[in-house]
Amino acid sequence: MPSLQTSQTITKEQMCLIEEKPSSCAIIIFGASGDLAHRKLLPSLFHLFVEKNLPPQFYVMGVARTVMTDQQFREKIRKGLSAGPFPQLVEPFLDRCFYLSGDYDGPLVYQNLHKSLNELDKKFQVGLRRIFYLSTPPSLYAPIVNRMGKTDLAYSQLEDPKSWVRVIIEKPFGDSLDSAQSLNRDISSILTEDQIYRIDHYLAKETVQNILMFRFANVLFEPVWNRNFIDHVQITAAEQLGVEHRSGYYEQAGVLRDMFQNHLLQLLALIAMEAPINLNANTVRNKRNEVLEAIRPMSQAEVQTNSICAQYGMGDINGQEVVGYRQEAGVSPSSRTATFAAVQFEIDNWRWQGVPFYIRSGKRLAERVVEIAVHFKRVPTSIFKPLLASHLSPNVLTFRIQPDEGISMQFEAKKPGPKLCMNTVKMDFGYKDIFKGTPPESYARLFLDAMIGDQTLFARSDGVEDSWRIIDPIVQYWEKTPTVSLFEYPAGSWGPNESAHLLSRNEHSWD
Ligand code: BG6
Repeated sequence: MPSLQTSQTITKEQMCLIEEKPSSCAIIIFGASGDLAHRKLLPSLFHLFVEKNLPPQFYVMGVARTVMTDQQFREKIRKGLSAGPFPQLVEPFLDRCFYLSGDYDGPLVYQNLHKSLNELDKKFQVGLRRIFYLSTPPSLYAPIVNRMGKTDLAYSQLEDPKSWVRVIIEKPFGDSLDSAQSLNRDISSILTEDQIYRIDHYLAKETVQNILMFRFANVLFEPVWNRNFIDHVQITAAEQLGVEHRSGYYEQAGVLRDMFQNHLLQLLALIAMEAPINLNANTVRNKRNEVLEAIRPMSQAEVQTNSICAQYGMGDINGQEVVGYRQEAGVSPSSRTATFAAVQFEIDNWRWQGVPFYIRSGKRLAERVVEIAVHFKRVPTSIFKPLLASHLSPNVLTFRIQPDEGISMQFEAKKPGPKLCMNTVKMDFGYKDIFKGTPPESYARLFLDAMIGDQTLFARSDGVEDSWRIIDPIVQYWEKTPTVSLFEYPAGSWGPNESAHLLSRNEHSWD
């Protein structure tokens, strides 16, 4: 959210026109020959360029081990761009892209980078405003930041308030509480917290940002947003894709580290947080983090009863037969990596005491869908006898994060006619119908926020550590206890039956 501070009163229409962007900026991508850079980062920068959202003075410097010339780098970028109606803008964008190869472990690449950046700053009149994006294997985050410190690239103490150096760090941020703490310690010995931008691309999804707008720009829901009216909450992040070409990473990560520790706990935090007093980054992050702090880490016995982890076997996705996880290239035939998890979380505070928050996520599931469903309590009694209160469907408010982005409200309605018949119906708001077009790419938004210095949509060190505190015991039980086996589910299903049991024991069921 823009951290606009103004005492002036303005209209909603004027608010939309406010432009916040610096007049110049250099973007330096470590890991610039990699998949993420060419699939997401560089196309997002191009998109910002087309939309005139990049500063007028900018350049992009790619750094990676692969040896390439500027020209080869530009050709590689070109392949990932979809210019749409603006083919004439491709060359001007590529003309501002440069490349430097080198070994991250030695000093040379940083010395060369220092020199090249100074030259390019002069050429493009950029001044000292730099965003470094670490899109490398996570084991390189600390060494790169360390070398940046040694070669005077980190600039944590700048006298000119118009100059800044910011570092965006890709996920995963650590793979356990210990490693996240150690990474936080290492990078914060070189950079200040306001220079560190820990990415969680889910926070930048339009529909995710709309959760706060929906909750706090409307009066209707906040009074009932608590344990007195809400029965339980379900968060589902289902993918049809399998592990694809990322088995090396995924084997180490599994679904709990890949999706729960970051994206899904952040969704839960946005649904459950208290109202912040303004939209300043730290005010909002304090509120999100308070929710994470209030989730008590589970004992091993609680993990056993409140979570299910599983792996996909062979099956069928959209009529195509697909192999099981252990048969995927690069996966160990005896892998213990979970590709599906369902967990019941409890938030220990006044607002949410006793309200289960169920989260499930998995690869190779029946559909690609991410949504949050807030299930309200049943009516206390029925006046529509002989129908009982238990026959009436409770209200369900659903945030459809993707695809088919929108918000819907389920309620009971009378069927036309003389008889007392009712139907469960939905009021529906669809993004595409109202706002047209598809929501913008998250990475574009995150670049823009880093340029204006807004950290709201990035995770802070304490939040990251609290999430690991919650996830660690679950990983410990399912992946590291030799007597525990993962459940299996056929590709193309909704996960193992045990995931349904997790809810049915509380008389709930997945939507
Ligand atoms: C990434 C995970 O962070 O998020 C992937 O590493 C996952 O495994 C992806 O597929 C999902 O993101 P999205 O935006 O496609 O829902």
